[in-house]
Amino acid sequence: MVPAPQPGPPADLSPPVLTDGVVRLRLPADADLPDIVAACQDPEVSRWTLVPSPYGEADGRAFLAGQAPGRAAGTDVVLAVEEVATGRFVGLVGLHGIADGDAEIGYWTGPWGRGRGLTTRAVRLACGWALGGLGLQRVGWAALVGNDASRRVAEKAGFRVLGALRRNLVQRGTRVDGWVGDLLAEDLP
Ligand SMILES: CC(C)(COP(=O)(O)OP(=O)(O)OC[C@H]1O[C@@H](n2cnc3c(N)ncnc32)[C@H](O)[C@@H]1OP(=O)(O)O)[C@@H](O)C(=O)NCCC(=O)NCCS
Repeated sequence: MVPAPQPGPPADLSPPVLTDGVVRLRLPADADLPDIVAACQDPEVSRWTLVPSPYGEADGRAFLAGQAPGRAAGTDVVLAVEEVATGRFVGLVGLHGIADGDAEIGYWTGPWGRGRGLTTRAVRLACGWALGGLGLQRVGWAALVGNDASRRVAEKAGFRVLGALRRNLVQRGTRVDGWVGDLLAEDLP
């Protein structure tokens, strides 16, 4: 068995420079608000994630204002994904429930950023940081059964999809089946 890290001070979730030359991850900024609100209008985002639906500017502001406590506690960090070539915000990738060497990844990308491998790149960078600099042992992934695009991103980023659990997720008040997977530090190239 691999021992869990001993409890210590909260993890420092200030991200280092995280880029592969095509995407860059950085902390979300107030200037991202219009893009966040626009992306969360997309039915695919509300179908497959837990963002409020309908999603308005107040939801975006609450999201931005609500980031600091989780970061300060060392438990949650959400990063904006920016396309390097254009500087355009395309989506968010988050590490949640960071504790005892473990975290859960989540992501969405606005329709204007999809289909070009940008999310896969962002997930790889976030996981590289989580399992490298942050020293976690495992990053978990979960998606509603049928979310093939999310599954494909996870698999391309190196996650092993382990199967489906029955009614392990709650989506808008209903318990539903979810795929689960994980990526361990030793899985990274
Ligand atoms: C999932 C999501 C982030 C993917 O973003 P993206 O930028 O298009 O992802 P990438 O371009 O990096 O890769 C997408 C991969 O999924 C595949 N894909 C896209 N839609 C698909 C679908 N409906 N069925 C199967 N595969 C699909 C693409 O072909 C590509 O794989 P390939 O490179 O082998 O061809 C985006 O669709 C999204 O935001 N969806 C709504 C929110 C969501 O589902 N978040 C995840 C919650 S767990």
